[in-house]
Amino acid sequence: LALIPAPTGPAACSVVNPPTMTAVGPTVEETFIMVKPDGVVRGLAGRILRRFEDKGLRLVRSKFTMADRNILNEHYAHIADKPFYPEVFDYMTSAPVFQMVFQGPNAVSAGRTLLGATDPMQAELGTVRGDFGLGVDKNLCHGSDSREAAAKEVHLWFRDGIAASRSGAEVPSLERTFIMVKPDGVQRGLSGRILSRFEDKGLRLLASKHIEKLGRPKLDEHYAH
Ligand code: TYD
Ligand code: MG
Repeated sequence: LALIPAPTGPAACSVVNPPTMTAVGPTVEETFIMVKPDGVVRGLAGRILRRFEDKGLRLVRSKFTMADRNILNEHYAHIADKPFYPEVFDYMTSAPVFQMVFQGPNAVSAGRTLLGATDPMQAELGTVRGDFGLGVDKNLCHGSDSREAAAKEVHLWFRDGIAASRSGAEVPSLERTFIMVKPDGVQRGLSGRILSRFEDKGLRLLASKHIEKLGRPKLDEHYAH
């Protein structure tokens, strides 16, 4: 088997995107996706992220944090008076969450399709909830259900930028390592695949953020040697 590098540049673009397909296209949208505590604790953040990247959606923001209690109440205002909400609240604040914003054509409905039905027992196989979940009380991942909700949720969860609150997942006696997916990995949509390698090995994600463009001073310091 001979492997050659995938073609890049205009030649590749003309194969993927012939002119007839670019003339009229679906609207580019943003959607807010959040791996919930059960997904994080089970080491599924990378595998879930990968599904969105594999679909062709572009990761444009992310952070890893304990859910802020006030923001969570605002986020779930539509179910705050339901009898099951206290359990949802306790579950959502039991461990860190991994929050992401994806961009792409029809991102909102694509995201909902990738997640599957709210109850994992009703969700189709091939969806995140259908493949990984057993009950509605732990359904692994949130996804915006409309463009309006997406705009609201992105603003709500990212209004303070990407500064993460302490994840609360640190165990001081354990070693930590710093892993960075470089621009080619991010642009090729490989962040999820790379992260899942580390999770599959048994390493726990403690902190994460997506940086659109690294600043020169930080890079100089990182590569001082
Ligand atoms: P909802 O926004 O209706 O579902 P979705 O996440 O698919 O948009 O509900 C928010 C969360 O509340 C849902 O992901 C899981 C939880 N939930 C329950 O625990 N029990 C229930 O009966 C419902 C409808 C939701
Ligand atoms: Mg919802």
